[in-house]
Amino acid sequence: MTKRTVTTMNHGQPDEHTLRAALALAVRAPSVRNGQPWRFRISARGVDLFLDPARVRPPTQSVRRAAVLSCGAALHHLRIALAAAGWSAVVRRLPDPAEPDHLASVELVPHRPTRIELSLSDAIARRRTDHRNFGSPIPQGYIGLANERAMTLGANVQQLTELPRVRVAEALRDAATEPPAGTELDLAELLVLSTPTDDESAWLSAGEALSAILLTATNVDLASCALIEPLEIPELRRRIRRGVLADRSYPQSVIRIGWAPVDSMPLPVTPRRALGDVLERTEATAC
Ligand SMILES: Cc1cc2nc3c(=O)[nH]c(=O)nc-3n(C[C@H](O)[C@H](O)[C@H](O)COP(=O)(O)O)c2cc1C
Repeated sequence: MTKRTVTTMNHGQPDEHTLRAALALAVRAPSVRNGQPWRFRISARGVDLFLDPARVRPPTQSVRRAAVLSCGAALHHLRIALAAAGWSAVVRRLPDPAEPDHLASVELVPHRPTRIELSLSDAIARRRTDHRNFGSPIPQGYIGLANERAMTLGANVQQLTELPRVRVAEALRDAATEPPAGTELDLAELLVLSTPTDDESAWLSAGEALSAILLTATNVDLASCALIEPLEIPELRRRIRRGVLADRSYPQSVIRIGWAPVDSMPLPVTPRRALGDVLERTEATAC
């Protein structure tokens, strides 16, 4: 296991270097159309996460939903990166009702990283959105593990088989945003990530769960791809909710999981905005 040093600054907080290293991993989170709709602020108490309204265009409900999900993924990436660096995050979600773009406030307490946190943190740099056809079957235990991790974050994962799988594959084809998904050659497992409610807090939780599912897949070398664009079409979202989800929970993302083609080339890393473009510091923390 790699030996990691835990460094402290004032008030038992991580130092600037540790926070920046964790934020550099947080911004590796997937985001819809790689829009990276997040902003972070380092304060004396920890880190705050904001939705960047300039990146919610047009400002419709479904665009905002996808953007909040993406920020949820960045929040989970941040928590994992901090945990691996020796800091457990105490998260307040939507801490200020008067400021809906303030999605989370993260305070930190020293912590001994677990093996799972270390391996999920290592998976951040290896994860890619993979649009290729996948092979199957995937390990039986994976879905149970993904569901368990999603449930601790307030979401559910359902693996689609038989008729529901056909229905979602049809819906994906109708949306035509993902040409390989659902073709005869594609043996990807289709998962639907859903939440009991459909509000900002549910979207944030769904994004965190999405990150947990994708990193758990990467950790066992499974390829994955989140698909939310089909759900941006209200009729398709309704179709999946009514025709597939027995508990009538709200679908937040379809996820394709499977084995990447054997001997395939590694996928390139997608670009990100520079950390300085998404990071502010409060006066109290400026050197
Ligand atoms: C909430 C969410 C929804 C997404 N929906 C889609 C989608 O519908 N189709 C797609 O091809 N990729 C989708 N993606 C993947 C992004 O396009 C991808 O994360 C981004 O381009 C960055 O690439 P990377 O994941 O390889 O780092 C989604 C990602 C997130 C977080």
